[in-house]
Amino acid sequence: MSARPKVLLTRMLPGASMEVLEKHFELDANRENRVMPHGVLVEKVKDKDGLICLLTDRIDRPVIAGATRLKIIADYAVGYDNIDLAEASKRKIPVTNTPDVLTETTADLAFGLLLSIARRIVESDRFLRAGGFKGWAPELMLGIDVHNKTLGIIGMGRIGRAVARRARGFDMKVLYYDVQPLSAVDEKGCGVEYCPLNNLLDVSDFVSVHAPLNAQTHHLISAAEFRGMKRTAFLINTARGPIIDEKALVHALKSGQIAGCALDVYENEPAITTGLLGMDNVVLVPHIGSASIETRTKMALMAAGNVIAVLIDQKKPPNIVNPGIYA
Ligand code: GLV
Ligand code: GLV
Repeated sequence: MSARPKVLLTRMLPGASMEVLEKHFELDANRENRVMPHGVLVEKVKDKDGLICLLTDRIDRPVIAGATRLKIIADYAVGYDNIDLAEASKRKIPVTNTPDVLTETTADLAFGLLLSIARRIVESDRFLRAGGFKGWAPELMLGIDVHNKTLGIIGMGRIGRAVARRARGFDMKVLYYDVQPLSAVDEKGCGVEYCPLNNLLDVSDFVSVHAPLNAQTHHLISAAEFRGMKRTAFLINTARGPIIDEKALVHALKSGQIAGCALDVYENEPAITTGLLGMDNVVLVPHIGSASIETRTKMALMAAGNVIAVLIDQKKPPNIVNPGIYA
């Protein structure tokens, strides 16, 4: 029997995927509970046939160029902005992600954040634990209603649509902006209405971001956009931090241009722009959009499946994001 393909795994994954990987491959896994240093990654990937990486790994030109045997890069994430896709494609290396399985889970968190910020749930919890609760009071922790309000969704992909479905259950009016508007039939099916970004920001009570990070969406929400939002509006981001200009966000919050925000992702993760930490009208969670046991397990099996497809079955991987390389 010929030697098993060599695969680098930059961090341990949950569930049965580890056994699956051990069974098929000569696995070089980072067993430390932290990001593999970039220099170590560059060295370790050099003699590998496959790479399974995380959104916290920067898969740039030095990583890809030095890995002359590499036949697959499987990202354990739906967003693959951490990978130099042009470089991988130039070398005909398929890149895969983990779509679909995390759609509903991420939408759940986005909606949870929306409810938390509107009804001051996290702030109320802090208040109670600090001994502030002295009894029911007419004006204690007044938030704003979610039902019957207008939600503006930026990025109407799978996750955006899943958020729209939840919003309909709360009788919200749902507007969306996307570079590729839906067909009229899909708009009707989703119960959503297309709106240019400026108009969407102008009328939405809640704005939730579900776009991928790329050159077009970097700082899509910046100073001018905050000025265009309602002073009562809340911003929610479960997509990618750099889509929002975080300095402009802090300014918008401090100057009352918007009412608050709830964030799962940050511009310079894991660093948090200082101003945010001190504000009560801000909910901050540590990039946990897909963090359910079920979903993280499925994502791991999906990443493993993509590597098996290429290295064992010699097939096109099911979740390829650069299919043009096979053309
Ligand atoms: C998480 O942020 C992902 O892209 O999967
Ligand atoms: C990602 O799954 C998206 O298309 O929203």
